[in-house]
Amino acid sequence: MKELNNKVAVVTGAGSGIGRALAHLLAARGCRLALSDVNEAGLKEAAASCGASEVRTYLLDVSDRDAIYAHADEVAKDFGQVNLIINNAGVALSASVREMTDEDFKWIMDIDFWGVAHGTRAFLPHLIASGDGHVVNVSSVFGLIGVPKQSAYNAAKFAVRGFTEALRQEMQLEGQPVAVSCVHPGGIRTNIANAARMGVSENADAQRKGFDKLAMTTPEKAAETIIRGILRDESRILVGPDAWGIDALNRLLGAAYQPLVARFSRKNLYN
Ligand SMILES: NC(=O)c1ccc[n+]([C@@H]2O[C@H](COP(=O)([O-])OP(=O)(O)OC[C@H]3O[C@@H](n4cnc5c(N)ncnc54)[C@H](O)[C@@H]3O)[C@@H](O)[C@H]2O)c1
Repeated sequence: MKELNNKVAVVTGAGSGIGRALAHLLAARGCRLALSDVNEAGLKEAAASCGASEVRTYLLDVSDRDAIYAHADEVAKDFGQVNLIINNAGVALSASVREMTDEDFKWIMDIDFWGVAHGTRAFLPHLIASGDGHVVNVSSVFGLIGVPKQSAYNAAKFAVRGFTEALRQEMQLEGQPVAVSCVHPGGIRTNIANAARMGVSENADAQRKGFDKLAMTTPEKAAETIIRGILRDESRILVGPDAWGIDALNRLLGAAYQPLVARFSRKNLYN
């Protein structure tokens, strides 16, 4: 996709943070937009920030498989085509493997992995039919390295990465007109930590404050980086200097990154 003007773009989780900033920038680039979220108020604000562009909003829970498939068909009918799906909706959980509940583990996997997988599969036929499609799946730097208390989020985000990297190769081998990118943001200053679930022993306040201190990139800057990556057809889009640092650490050290991350976590998560 060399240009965005007049393309139909779908953004899940568009009511806040990275999704809302993406909606705003895609509108400025001339996209026609299908925005969805579970948060109706946030969704309306996001649509209002998109100015004069053609914007439709849809209440959608990405953990509901049948709802995503119905949504894909509805968007294709409403707009006549679909070029870009950004599977962005996501939630976070901080809890150890020992303490997290099955319910919280399932909650994360249903939204952060299955939401992305179903979103991809539901929209894929429409993207192929458009003749110029792009799948963008939002993973995380936690899809590159494992981190204490993030095992469920790690599991979902590593799964998104594997799924997305396999899909990119399939599209190329089949000669399909669909590009595929996996996005790995570092810390982005959004609502994600406030909305996160916490395990019983976690100090939620301290963790949220710690996140606010560490998150160095604005959602607007993140959206710019993602859109540049889409236009350059990057397979892996790293967002923020911390994401570049973590990617480098991972490549340089291999599995030996773990003691370093554990030392950082002992200071910040186990006090
Ligand atoms: N903020 C970060 O530091 C960071 C880092 C790495 C990856 N990410 C990923 O970026 C994506 C966007 O997160 P954000 O930081 O903008 O967070 P955010 O909380 O600001 O926005 C997430 C949006 O997803 C929506 N959402 C939650 N559950 C949903 C569901 N079941 N169905 C539909 N929508 C749902 C929320 O209502 C919200 O509007 C997520 O996938 C997140 O995991 C964020």
